[in-house]
Amino acid sequence: MSALPGTIVPVARRAVSFQRQTGAYYTCPEAALAMAEWVLGNGARTALEPSFGDGAFVHALRAAAEKRAGGEVEVFGAELVAETYDKALSTCILDPSHAHLGDFLAWDVPTVDAVIGNPPYVRLRNAAKDQCSRALAVSARELGAPMETGGSVWMPFVLHAARALASGGRMALVLPFDLTYVRYARPLWRWLGAAFGGLRLARVHQRIFPEILQDVVVLYADRRGGQTDHVRFDAFASVDDFLHGSPLHRSDVSIAAVGGGERALMRALLPCELLADLDGPLARASVPVRSRCAFNIGYV
Ligand SMILES: C[S@@+](CC[C@H](N)C(=O)[O-])C[C@H]1O[C@@H](n2cnc3c(N)ncnc32)[C@H](O)[C@@H]1O
Repeated sequence: MSALPGTIVPVARRAVSFQRQTGAYYTCPEAALAMAEWVLGNGARTALEPSFGDGAFVHALRAAAEKRAGGEVEVFGAELVAETYDKALSTCILDPSHAHLGDFLAWDVPTVDAVIGNPPYVRLRNAAKDQCSRALAVSARELGAPMETGGSVWMPFVLHAARALASGGRMALVLPFDLTYVRYARPLWRWLGAAFGGLRLARVHQRIFPEILQDVVVLYADRRGGQTDHVRFDAFASVDDFLHGSPLHRSDVSIAAVGGGERALMRALLPCELLADLDGPLARASVPVRSRCAFNIGYV
């Protein structure tokens, strides 16, 4: 519901819509460091953060680089919101010549060895018109077909960021759990399988973002320029288990199945006995709800 003319919009409500339009939810530093150690783990010297926000991943990259011999990493980054950009740069985390103020999707990104970040999860219909057009253009360029307009900006971010990667490079991104099942992401899965030699997805049951109602996964894409037919799916009970690399459950899931819309990643989280019941007696005694009614996801 929009405010009546002359009504002062409370700060809390303005903040909510600002967050919705820019996707400004920041990552916890421990998770950022674990991801940074992984992306730099093959000796990367240059890295890109597509939407650096308060700089959690830039700090993590510097901390991870310091832990290894050599201690240096050259970091490039973009940020859309001028106030956020200025605040981050005032702490000298990025050389201004390596920073882009504006839409990441409009940036002719330099080639790097590593990509890391947590892109905005903004529905195309909530993005500014020019950003929405660029998001559609980037997706069409990489996927060879138009992206569904019901999708979200994180997907063209993945494609544009991966384009910046040198051969053999690594990418680690925090992405919405939707990646595992939404229809608009199916072409992305096929693209990822044809663009990387190794794919891993980490799901943490405990929330990495305690302040928002958004389930996330971490995508680890290794060896840019290679190919793979499966994604390793690790489920962790807690952030601590994630940090210690101790999954509760691990499985290899076929990219063809995920890209084909079989919800294979969702099924991979279910116990074998439940799957046997779902595919056996329950399947015989029921019909899929979608065969009787249509669902529309969104808000009014
Ligand atoms: C989910 S936050 C993540 C910030 C930081 N990467 C982190 O993990 O803490 C998303 C950030 O993307 C920025 N942003 C939104 N749209 C953008 C765009 N089109 N280009 C660059 N940055 C964008 C927001 O201002 C926000 O700082």
